Amino acid sequence: MSTDEFADGFETIAIHAGQDPDPGTGAVAPPLHLSSTFAQDGVGGLRGGFEYSRSGNPTRAALETCLAALEGGRVGLAFSAGMAATDTLLRAVCRPGDHVIIPADAYGGTYRLIARVLGEWGVEHSSVDLTDLEATRAAVRPGVTRLVWCETPTNPLLTIADIAALASLAHDAGALLAVDNTFASPYLQQPLALGADAVVHSTTKYLGGHSDVVGGAIVVSDPELGTQLRFLQNAAGAVPGPFDCWLVLRGIKTLAVRMDRHCANARGVATLLAAHPAVSTVYYPGLPGHAGHGIAAKQMRDFGGMVSLTLRDGPRAAVELCGRTRLFTLAESLGGVESLIEHPASMTHASVVNSPLAVPAELVRLSVGIESADDLAADLRRALDGLSTRSA
Ligand SMILES: Cc1ncc(COP(=O)(O)O)c(C=O)c1O
Repeated sequence: MSTDEFADGFETIAIHAGQDPDPGTGAVAPPLHLSSTFAQDGVGGLRGGFEYSRSGNPTRAALETCLAALEGGRVGLAFSAGMAATDTLLRAVCRPGDHVIIPADAYGGTYRLIARVLGEWGVEHSSVDLTDLEATRAAVRPGVTRLVWCETPTNPLLTIADIAALASLAHDAGALLAVDNTFASPYLQQPLALGADAVVHSTTKYLGGHSDVVGGAIVVSDPELGTQLRFLQNAAGAVPGPFDCWLVLRGIKTLAVRMDRHCANARGVATLLAAHPAVSTVYYPGLPGHAGHGIAAKQMRDFGGMVSLTLRDGPRAAVELCGRTRLFTLAESLGGVESLIEHPASMTHASVVNSPLAVPAELVRLSVGIESADDLAADLRRALDGLSTRSA
């Protein structure tokens, strides 16, 4: 019995796609296949298509099937990290001499990979404000631009790009559009349906959801691109172990209910911050005054669990705030059930200091978890009130 024959709701897909009860035992939870190799019935006689776990593993196959279904794509691929997924997509699509357009705000590691690793192999890039479609069009090098790389909402400034508009811009130029969907998750946003050619995830974040695994994913609709990616996944070998796949699969089962709570809590946090005298700017696409609010409302189910803010008293106050919260733990990463706080300029985005993607030093990023909303509000209020007393 295959789930997709009778149900297509997001929550149902998350729990069942690729995860039918084990035919041999009836196990309802997907079995953890730790084997690195698989017996063959005569040379080339593979059972279920598996020969060696770098090329394919049944637990990873369950995750890849589920990821493809969640994003509405045909081919899903799992990786050992979000960066491995990004690297595989870039190297599958780009050759020396090709050009990539990247956002003016993005995860620092993505910039580092494109500028400092792929740059060494002759792939050129331009960073552009992707909310400015004219500037993006002007940055296209006809016949040379191979890929437009988009992140929306961006890390850490929560900028919103119009996926459908960028897809048609990229296609007019003969390029592909890739969307890093890590901040939204497939529950909130499905870039392939909006015209994107590839979706990339750090499954470390909302998909895993519990800060206990590092992983990545790519989902595409075009089977030919899927075959190229599958070739490179096996050839380069940045695959996740079976237990990592199992953890991400388990996280995915509760993605929808977790995201609903992340969004509700983030909305409350953004409203609190916007009214606090120590805060100068709140970056949250759910606020009606956010420049990307209209596009976010059009292409997202809700506005996500990430909130950034700048402090009136500048970088000193930003660093101080990061040390004052108790429930919001000072740590890198995001998307887990627990709330985190960080200072991007000296932590997650240290690799973009002095680059076109540098972030303001007075910026603080919050990953709003799913704890009790009142406790989160009390923690932030207490931490901020302390700051405003000092600067008064
Ligand atoms: C938006 C985004 N994309 C990609 C990555 C890289 O993922 P990973 O850390 O799993 O390699 C991150 C990591 O923070 C991220 O925030």
